[in-house]
Amino acid sequence: MKVGLFDSGVGGLTVLKELIDKYPHNQYYYFGDNINVPFGTKSKYELKILSENIIQFLLSKDVDIIIIACGTVSANLSEYLKNKYNIPIYDIISPTIKYLNDSNYNDIGIIATEMTVKSNIFKKVAKRVYQQACPLLVPLIEKDLDYLKELNYYISKLPKFDVLVLGCTHYSIFESYLKKININTINMGKILCDSIKIKGNKESKINLYFSKVNHQLINNIEKIIKYDYQLEELCLNYQK
Ligand code: DGL
Repeated sequence: MKVGLFDSGVGGLTVLKELIDKYPHNQYYYFGDNINVPFGTKSKYELKILSENIIQFLLSKDVDIIIIACGTVSANLSEYLKNKYNIPIYDIISPTIKYLNDSNYNDIGIIATEMTVKSNIFKKVAKRVYQQACPLLVPLIEKDLDYLKELNYYISKLPKFDVLVLGCTHYSIFESYLKKININTINMGKILCDSIKIKGNKESKINLYFSKVNHQLINNIEKIIKYDYQLEELCLNYQK
């Protein structure tokens, strides 16, 4: 199967990693729009133009399905995009909402981008939900800089919770650190993988496209993806 995925940058690679671990025999096409990162502070109109450009590109690769590996686009545009295109499109947040509603957790902490928090998508969880927007984190991750001080600060602003949802796909890279400090987390990419089935019997192939390639990007890719991949710089000419 040809699987297309996209995000504003390297965040969606955490989703790609989970998919490859579980469904290795597929061809993956990933677009990271790191010239336009962060998405989390953009208007809905800008997010729409950016997402449509990326989806057009993925469709040109003949993908069979598309996964919105971006919490911000999933929260704000998934219904619109699912209706607009004649291809199965999966968003990254819906499986986590279902999972939380079926779970025994009562107090749920959420860290996410400003636009995801503003969308109130996580209010669909019929539990006590505490949300914290973390606008500084994605730029720090993309620049391959230290983020622990900012991460700890944002978490400290939340009331006591049973579980912390990493509501932006970039934040899944915090998983092992948070485990070490005894914070129970939810990685939306893992939940998505458990909720879908991708049949594949072909040789695995990972094609990565980013709108800007530099050494910070390569470092980040190497940290997240432990498989062979092909990387190409590709700018999709976004015009406001
Ligand atoms: N990784 C994306 C998300 O899940 C986008 C973050 C951003 O670019 O602000 O929300």
